[in-house]
Amino acid sequence: CPAAQRKSCSGRCNDNIRKHEAKVVDMIDIENIADKAAFCRCWKTKNWPYCDGSHGEHNKNTGDNVGPVVIKRK
Ligand code: FES
Repeated sequence: CPAAQRKSCSGRCNDNIRKHEAKVVDMIDIENIADKAAFCRCWKTKNWPYCDGSHGEHNKNTGDNVGPVVIKRK
């Protein structure tokens, strides 16, 4: 990759979240979820592991189409 594109060509999606950890893993007790919770899949949120809407700007800037996974109670 050219240097200007290296970040996007590296295959990495995590730019900022807990970079000191070998692997970012989150455990959420389902009892702690009220009616629903939206979890980030774009890695751009400022409220990891929850979606804060940052995927909208990411999609606009890149042409991507990512969004959260929403867990909800029936
Ligand atoms: Fe990442 Fe919404 S902010 S999926």
